[in-house]
Amino acid sequence: MSTILAIETSCDETGIALLQQKERAIVVQASAVASQIDVHALTGGVVPDVAAREHTQVIIPLLQSVLVQANIKIAAIDAIAVTVGPGLMPALSVGVQLARTVAYRFQKPIVPVHHIEGHIYAALLQENEKGREYHVPDAAFPVLALIVSGGHTLLVYMKDHLQYETIGTTRDDAAGEAFDKVARLLELPYPGGPHLAQLATQGNAQAFALPRPMIHADNFDVSFSGLKTAVLYLLRDNPHANKADVAASFQQAVVDTVMAKLTKAVKQYQPQTVLLSGGVAANVKLRDAAMQLGQTQQCKVRLSPLQLCGDNAVMIGQAGLYAFAAGRIATWQAVDPIARVPLEQFS
Ligand code: KG4
Ligand code: ZN
Repeated sequence: MSTILAIETSCDETGIALLQQKERAIVVQASAVASQIDVHALTGGVVPDVAAREHTQVIIPLLQSVLVQANIKIAAIDAIAVTVGPGLMPALSVGVQLARTVAYRFQKPIVPVHHIEGHIYAALLQENEKGREYHVPDAAFPVLALIVSGGHTLLVYMKDHLQYETIGTTRDDAAGEAFDKVARLLELPYPGGPHLAQLATQGNAQAFALPRPMIHADNFDVSFSGLKTAVLYLLRDNPHANKADVAASFQQAVVDTVMAKLTKAVKQYQPQTVLLSGGVAANVKLRDAAMQLGQTQQCKVRLSPLQLCGDNAVMIGQAGLYAFAAGRIATWQAVDPIARVPLEQFS
């Protein structure tokens, strides 16, 4: 049985969680996320130094509240899992510095975790009836993971746990970034993704013919900047266009684009399991499309639980437990934040 303290500060959510592995079940003893959305809404985007200041303000009280809620003393934990990258350097530094301080003071090992492996492992968790414990049903390998968030759009092939091969990515904007930029064009509140999805429920997805970029290209990469520009021109040329129709048509174009690449990858790589995670994995249309893919391609599709799609520390703890069991540990001196780092480096 291992107990792990997990820390996430790569962008604009401060996450702290305590997880316990009991045989095959993972139990979340306590978890807290402090969102900075209200602060960044003022500037319409995340300013790295502002994010770091906000993390610094809340992280110690958040740690304290999670320890109290779980009724666990730091001395009783086995390791500290922390997101070391990729992310905003000043933001990452706050979490890494807390991990180093706790590791030094209590002589605990640190498990460095890549933010994206956290997202991937969130899709291996499943909430039970009590809403607090998360069981880990076996994931059949090979696995194909689609991670769609505000900062990343990645297709990752895994022949086993902790073995990552990135087979596709975005050439420009990430899927969530495209949602947020188009939401801004539609004058929706920040961050726009969920607002755009909500507006799209009232619109006709066939109303406007928008491009599905790179859909026929012979690779697993996607591109969204052209789609965003197409929406910009659409609104310029049709100032009275029904916004719900624009939102629905745009959302459908994104879903079709990522699903085309995912389907192509499933046919080529023949995975046993497909995972969907990241902030945009909360999108209902995308979740439905992924579930349908499971039926047509005969593979098991696992969706990240809704409350774990956005950034949180539970996912970092979950990946951290696997990495800890595999012996990925470092001393407090050896752990540094890294703004850009490939997932493969954590294999
Ligand atoms: O994973 P996440 O919390 O942060 C990053 O690591 O980037 O993802 C946040 C992104 C934002 O761009 C947000 O607009 C988008 O996920 N998002 C959505 C939905 N919910 C969140 N996009 C589309 N539909 C949604 N329902
Ligand atoms: Zn993320």
